[in-house]
Amino acid sequence: MSHQGNKRDIEVTGTIMKIAVFVSGNGSNLQALIDAREKDGLAGGEITLVVSDHADAYAVKRARQAGIPVFVHEAAGSSSREEYDTAISRKLKESGIELIVLAGFMRILGDGLVEEYKWRMMNIHPSLLPSFKGTHGIRDAFEYGVKVTGVTVHFVEKELDAGPVILQTPVMIGEDDTLETLEKKIHEEEHRLYPRAVQLFIDGKLDVRGRKVRIRE
Ligand code: GRF
Repeated sequence: MSHQGNKRDIEVTGTIMKIAVFVSGNGSNLQALIDAREKDGLAGGEITLVVSDHADAYAVKRARQAGIPVFVHEAAGSSSREEYDTAISRKLKESGIELIVLAGFMRILGDGLVEEYKWRMMNIHPSLLPSFKGTHGIRDAFEYGVKVTGVTVHFVEKELDAGPVILQTPVMIGEDDTLETLEKKIHEEEHRLYPRAVQLFIDGKLDVRGRKVRIRE
């Protein structure tokens, strides 16, 4: 992995890259990443930690079923965002985490943590960014009446849903689509796209140049 203006290059040769997946809810993207291993995906990487801000999230159950250590950190236990992030940062360091994969994590992380993991933290968003940012990307696109929406995987920066785009795929909205059928199509696409983006990172194929992410062949 190399990138302009940031010297924290990661040497993965001969080692397994340790990945933390952050979740809050259903965890279908976490599941897709777990399942990718069975199809020889995530070669050279391993999900060694799942972080959740909700103890009862279904994603936590999925992680436990897969035998992945879970760090549940609910906001109620912290007096401030700094304290919340510091506890997470400590846990990530202890666990030797090199890549953070946000997969439906609903809490906004502070600038410190985002900076610490600059170009080593990615997120998936259910629209073609920069359209339809925010919590309801699928519904907003559907209600707007666009004919094409999609899925975006991007690096995380301080501004929400605005970091450099790693991968994007379009999803067509047909006349017969309902919000439910569109959600299904978007999630299916997410489950294909996220493991691919993570694999590109593990393979050191992503170069960030300003706003552009170049994928090295
Ligand atoms: C996904 O649609 C993702 O794009 C968004 O949150 C949702 C998480 O779904 N950021 P799941 O918890 O992975 O099923």
